[in-house]
Amino acid sequence: MKSNELIKKGSDFLKKNKIKSHVIDSELLLSSVTGKSRESFLLNSSLKISPNQIKSFNNLIARRALKKEPVAYLLNEKEFWSIKFDVNKDVLIPRPETEILVESLVRYYKDCNPFILDIGTGSGCIIISLLQELKKSKGVAIDISNKALKIANKNSKTLKTQNRIKFVKASISNFKSLKFDLIVSNPPYIARHQLKNLDVGIKKFEPKIALDGGNDGLDVMRKVIYNSRKILKINGMLALEIGNGQYKKVSQILKLNKFNEKFLINDYKNNIRCILSSLNHY
Ligand SMILES: C[S@@+](CC[C@H](N)C(=O)[O-])C[C@H]1O[C@@H](n2cnc3c(N)ncnc32)[C@H](O)[C@@H]1O
Repeated sequence: MKSNELIKKGSDFLKKNKIKSHVIDSELLLSSVTGKSRESFLLNSSLKISPNQIKSFNNLIARRALKKEPVAYLLNEKEFWSIKFDVNKDVLIPRPETEILVESLVRYYKDCNPFILDIGTGSGCIIISLLQELKKSKGVAIDISNKALKIANKNSKTLKTQNRIKFVKASISNFKSLKFDLIVSNPPYIARHQLKNLDVGIKKFEPKIALDGGNDGLDVMRKVIYNSRKILKINGMLALEIGNGQYKKVSQILKLNKFNEKFLINDYKNNIRCILSSLNHY
């Protein structure tokens, strides 16, 4: 069977099973089993696919269509900030919203070398992407999940930032350290009662510890803000990703903790999704 026929067959099956991204998913899965890029299928639509590759492809298509397994977990990788990160079910799949946070920080700290703390590092996508851009920066990344730290460490080695990032198993509740110029966090922020409304692929496969933000979704956010006060340098910056609709509440928590909002960043749908703030010093 030829590549274009197989991609069409896979895509049709995914569409029938209500997968919105059916074409790209089918292309990505074929690309992974053949080791050929998606572009090569566009350039040559009649590449020959071996029976073994067809079998592997059909197996992945079935897992995507029937079990709703996310493509990133099927491929064990996700592109973020144009970098390939290893991922598995122990880490949240890096999201495009988080790239907006990275983008604003890269712009703000261009030509500087801030000492960075990443709280809840997951795959390590935020701090590793930042350090790929800010070549002289160093940082610390913490997470309460040992399994996530294993993946983050692996990504850091592959992407050659291992000499500039220290990964530490710790909760932000009891993390004591030196002071940082920049503290960044994309904490779990889904309200517990809303977890059941998430897409099947998310609630079935992504780690609950990366999603569950407690009763109002802001349990970990509160801890991040409260504890950042003690480990942020004068003129340091706290950069947070927040959930859609959480701006007012998070803004109040920041104010209560003497933070001063400096920049708000909207996502592609124009919702406020990132807050950059610094401490008021009297
Ligand atoms: C939403 S995920 C973010 C992962 C990654 N930074 C990203 O943006 O893709 C939140 C991460 O915070 C970690 N986490 C949850 N509670 C924590 C806590 N109290 N202290 C430190 N990390 C925590 C989870 O294990 C998870 O890896």
